[in-house]
Formats: sequence, structure tokens, C-alpha cells
Amino acid sequence: MIATLPGDGIGLEITEQAIKVLKAIGDTFNHEFTFEHAPVGATAIDKTGNPYPVETHDLCIKSDAVLFGAIGDPKYDNDPKAKVRPEQGLLAMRKKLGLYANIRPVKTFPSLIHKSPLRRDLVEGADFIVIRELTGGIYFGEPRGRSENQDTAFDTCVYNKEEIERITRLAFEYAGKRRKKLTAVDKANVLATSRLWRETVQDLAGDYADIELEYMFVDNAAMQIIQWPKNFDVMVTENMFGDILSDEASVISGSLGLLPSASIGLHTSVFEPIHGSYPQAAGKNIANPLATILSAAMLLESLDLLKEAEAVQKAVDASMDQNIVTRDIAEDNASTTSEVGDWIANYIAKQ
Ligand code: IPM
Ligand code: MN
Repeated sequence: MIATLPGDGIGLEITEQAIKVLKAIGDTFNHEFTFEHAPVGATAIDKTGNPYPVETHDLCIKSDAVLFGAIGDPKYDNDPKAKVRPEQGLLAMRKKLGLYANIRPVKTFPSLIHKSPLRRDLVEGADFIVIRELTGGIYFGEPRGRSENQDTAFDTCVYNKEEIERITRLAFEYAGKRRKKLTAVDKANVLATSRLWRETVQDLAGDYADIELEYMFVDNAAMQIIQWPKNFDVMVTENMFGDILSDEASVISGSLGLLPSASIGLHTSVFEPIHGSYPQAAGKNIANPLATILSAAMLLESLDLLKEAEAVQKAVDASMDQNIVTRDIAEDNASTTSEVGDWIANYIAKQ
């Protein structure tokens, strides 16, 4: 069973397309996927007052995987005083499911290179993974809040060795299956948590002697991602650095609407596009569903359905080659969100 949490904004339209695609995979490869929906984010606040209701969590725990849409609603963005925020639903889900690792693959698509704001010779062939720590750091550290007179605010960045070790080992393992290069990104010249990261990575490096390891300060990494994206293979970093660097890296592919992600950890894994809820497009049938469909491919991989995952990726490639894509990447004659979903599902059924 797959739990589907569409969330807010375009979440519903894009997850619908991924479900279509998974159903086509089920029919073609003889699997019985069942889907159960549950609210999260602003949608859940409206229904229950809680951005991550207990029922939603229970459903996630008993499912084989979670397909997630997007979260966020402008009515909260412009209200810094709001007591509950949609994003708390996503953070609560990550924490409660123990999703400590967020895997964000970045690559170019040959038919789209001209859409990248970067020069073709710089990005052609770029292919790396950002592994972002997802349940620690400044996103969750205590204390956080305001001084009594409300004039001072503070957040706390905390990491312990164990948290750093488990994500670093995972990153070394990913590098081992790829081009065997790991870049550990931190700000060890300034931050105590970053110095603990670097120390911990150094301690583990001996266990992975076949992996080329480099350390990079985050400001320098932000520059090098744009200047020499092909130099990266696997990058591992803490929660907020990973949030920022992965958005930055997404421009390499030409559209934020193309990047999928997997969050893995102690309980059920969650698959979601890295983009947000794009409220301006909600309900208009124009949002790009490919990041969510590619997240569904990562979901299939996690269930060891490798042929199936490949079939989804091939269908996505074909849709791009044939310009059956939404307006953010279309040459002309843009397709709608649901047309792209239908086309890809149909392509899979015909194989
Ligand atoms: C992401 C998003 C979230 C984050 C927000 C919506 C809380 O930007 O998944 O990257 O900052 O982690
Ligand atoms: Mn983000």
C-alpha cells in the first residue's frame, strides 16, 4: 500500500499524475498497488487544526511507501504570527518517521540542456547527488524563540556524533556505488557543529579507503556547483545547507520542476519533488508533474522494482524528447499537467 499525501497548492494535481503512472506500471508489470490518501499541511490545518494529523502518521507508518506532493500556503507565508504553519506538518512527518537522509539527485536531460541558465559545456553530463541530513540541525534545535521583550530571536543548530555518522556512512555507500567521490560540505571555519561534522567524517574515512574524499566550505560549494557542476559525485551536508544547495543545484537541469527526492530513515520512506506548492498555479493544470513522477520512480526503486523504475524514467525521457511537457520547459504547444501524466502512463502501457 502506498500512502499519498498531496498536501497544498499544486500537490493534488501532481500526485494524481504520479498515481496514474504507478497504476500503469501496476497493470503492465502485474503488481497490485493500492493507494490511500491523507491530508497534510495547510489542507490538514483546515480540516483538523493539525498540519500532520495522527491519522496521517498512522497511515504512513503502516504503508510500504509514502508519495508526497508539496506543502505551503501564502496565507501563512505573510503571517509571521501564525501559531500553526503548514511546514510544521512536513517537519513533524520527517521527525516522526525518522527520515534522517534526503537524497536529491541532480542531472541534466539532453533534450533540455538549452533551458539551463548555465552554459551547455559546463552542465552537459553533470550528474551528482545531494545527500541532505533531514532531522537535525537548526531546523529542530532547541532552544528557539524570542526573548521576553520579543526584540531578540534565536534558533539553535545542534548535531551529535551519531546523527552525523549515520548520514555520512550512507553517503560513503552511495559514493561507492557511483564514481567514488564524496564531498563533505560544512562551515568548519566558523561553526562548532561543522567542526564536529568534519571530525566525524575524518574518523569514518578510514573505513572507505576506496572513496576519494574532499571537504568544502558551504560558500565555496555554492560557487563550485555553478562553476564546475561536473566535478561533483556525491555531496553530503547538514540540513539547512542541503536545503539551499539543492535548490541552487536544480537550475542545472533547467527547471525546479524536474528534481525528485527520496527521504529515508527509520520507518517508511517518503518520495517527493523538491519544489514547493507553487500556489499561483494551483488548480490551473499547468504545473510540471515530472519531479513527482520521477519521485515515483525512486519509490519503485526503493521497493526493488528496478525494471519498473527504469520504465518510468524512459517514459519521462520520451515525453521530453517529444516535447510532451508543461509550459515551464515546452518549446511551443505546451501540454497540461494531466496531459503529461496521461501521455506517460499510456507510453508505459504500450511498452
Ligand atoms: C524542502 C522545503 C522544506 C524545507 C520547507 C517547505 C519546510 O523547502 O523540502 O526543501 O525547508 O525543508
Ligand atoms: Mn527547500
